[in-house]
Amino acid sequence: MSNQEKLADGKSGSYGLCLLDEDELYGIGSIETDAELKQRRHSGIKALFAEAQQDREAFWSAQAQCLDWFEPWNKVLQWDPPYAKWFLGGKLNACYNCLDRHMHTEIWKKNALVWEGEEGLERSLTYEELYKEVNKFSNVLKESGISKGDKVAIYLPMVPETVIAMLSCARVGAVHTVVFAGFSADALKDRILDADAKLLVTADGGWRKGRVIALKQTADMALESCPCIQKTIVVRRLNCEVVMQYGRDEWYDSLMEDAQEECPCEEMDAEDELYILYTSGTTGKPKGIVHTTGGYMVSVTATMRWVFDLQPCDIYWCTADVGWVTGHSYVVYGPLSNGVSQLIYEGAADFPQRDRFWQLIQKYRVTILYTAPTAIRMFMKWGDNWPQGCDLSSLRLLGSVGEPINPEAWMWYYTHIGCQRCPIVDTWWQTETGSIMIAPLAGFTALKPGSATQPLPGIDAVIMDEEGRQQSSGYLAITSPWPSMLRGIHKDSERYQQTYWKKWEGRYYFTGDGAKQDEDGDFWLSGRVDDVMNISGHRLGTMEVESALVDHQGVAEAAVIATAHAIKGQAIAAFVSLKEHTPFHADLEDELKQHVVKKIGAIARPERVIFISDLPKTRSGKIIRRLLRDIAEGRVTGDVTTLSDPSVMENIKKQYQED
Ligand code: WT7
Repeated sequence: MSNQEKLADGKSGSYGLCLLDEDELYGIGSIETDAELKQRRHSGIKALFAEAQQDREAFWSAQAQCLDWFEPWNKVLQWDPPYAKWFLGGKLNACYNCLDRHMHTEIWKKNALVWEGEEGLERSLTYEELYKEVNKFSNVLKESGISKGDKVAIYLPMVPETVIAMLSCARVGAVHTVVFAGFSADALKDRILDADAKLLVTADGGWRKGRVIALKQTADMALESCPCIQKTIVVRRLNCEVVMQYGRDEWYDSLMEDAQEECPCEEMDAEDELYILYTSGTTGKPKGIVHTTGGYMVSVTATMRWVFDLQPCDIYWCTADVGWVTGHSYVVYGPLSNGVSQLIYEGAADFPQRDRFWQLIQKYRVTILYTAPTAIRMFMKWGDNWPQGCDLSSLRLLGSVGEPINPEAWMWYYTHIGCQRCPIVDTWWQTETGSIMIAPLAGFTALKPGSATQPLPGIDAVIMDEEGRQQSSGYLAITSPWPSMLRGIHKDSERYQQTYWKKWEGRYYFTGDGAKQDEDGDFWLSGRVDDVMNISGHRLGTMEVESALVDHQGVAEAAVIATAHAIKGQAIAAFVSLKEHTPFHADLEDELKQHVVKKIGAIARPERVIFISDLPKTRSGKIIRRLLRDIAEGRVTGDVTTLSDPSVMENIKKQYQED
């Protein structure tokens, strides 16, 4: 049996983890692309790479023509490392590019959003209808005192109003900060305060796995300590009873009833902020990643076309929530600026049954599906019969994002969802990069299960060692600025420089990811090399979870590590020592897990809590997480000579195994 057959067979061994060792893994080889696709795409993409190679700035300048500008730029790039400005002097509006400019084209009558709620409610909005809603809501924002540069927080489920709210902010020049609806009141509060948001858009609730999520109630808890919020607008999703605070809270629908029909677009500078999106880092405090208008819109619009090979009749579906960067770039700005028709779905993949995704694809004749490896591994576990029962023949291209896709999951996706017809584009990027950086371009790049393959045109990525020498294995670095790169961390330029630019003295961007390059030059991402975890494709800092744990009154110290998990990719193991007088009881593990959920949200719930008397530390008191990882992964523990008390390890090992 060849490696490829072994993988396609899918029955061999545990799901989620690659069955092959490294040598075999790189030996899988590439998958043939459809001849027709090759013919249609090959020369065009080849030309793109050639142009980018020849003159990167001229290339991006040409790409920027994919947008409508009120005023052209007079300088493509100003690079004062580590600060970049793109399309200087250019004026545009992101919302204009997503809506207004389609007005005199055929796109106008097309569906922009086809939405399905978890309980089956359906709603679709053509570009024209979306335009009307956005104009009205833009006026609502203005009436509520929002003007250019103000920050607006959005805490909503996956409903059309979320897209409407984001685009309306862009229209009036306000900066949105979307907070994923799964985050807790504390997490929402921290983000609102850091961003200094004036207004919050939320909903009475949402559906998840057949249960109601009480969003307004959570928002109210957050708002108890957010004096910066002057007004709350509440979308009626469930029509349930909620407490409305007089003078602060208003219903979305009643404000919309009275709103003026037309709202002109604010002329924004290319470098005016479009949004702030919080993401986890290596400290306890999330970072507010800042994206600006011009460069970001150019990159997302262009990469959307290249990577997804957009065709006028496509029905595109990205399963990401708008609360993450994938939702910003490839649900809102990328698809809409390209006039794509897309499906958005509010709920869970197993509601009411485990074939909901496949039912949706069959029903709406979805042609492009963009989802995450963790979801694919879950589908593998649920069994082949769920997709088999549905007609997936409309699909023509598949995408993957969020974490490395293990070759076994790649082959299952290719075989059972793509029926060996659809190329898979494994897209590597980050909240900070704003748009896809490394991915195959189907029809041009040879596909390799498990590899994100090559940097896109205009992107310079290499692998480096600690000293900044190019290697075939080491840290992934980006060596030239790109249009959608983050412009900074909100209110923390020191952290911006430290996190991304210090490693190689401001010369190259440090991604935080480890990678290898094979003999064809293809990139194989291996995951984070810093104290950042990737749980089900979501980024979480070890320190963030540790701070949540020590916030509990009984906890003295905590050390958090990520362990391999068959579905989630990684899961959280928390090693906790209790304060001397904390009584230990059987429910304490659950209590601590619940405490983390309260502080951050359900995505951060530790899989295991291991109680230990001492943490492994250096003589200077630094926790050595590496040794905990050794224990969790059943390895012989590494160098313990730096430990202040080497006997600690034996106790921890015993505790881990007994637990
Ligand atoms: C981190 C970024 C990109 C949007 C969703 C996550 C990991 C992401 C891949 C991929 C291997 C990947 C990296 C990266 N990652 N995509 N295709 N292959 N790793 O955005 O929360 O900013 O996380 O996700 O580790 O650094 P994010």
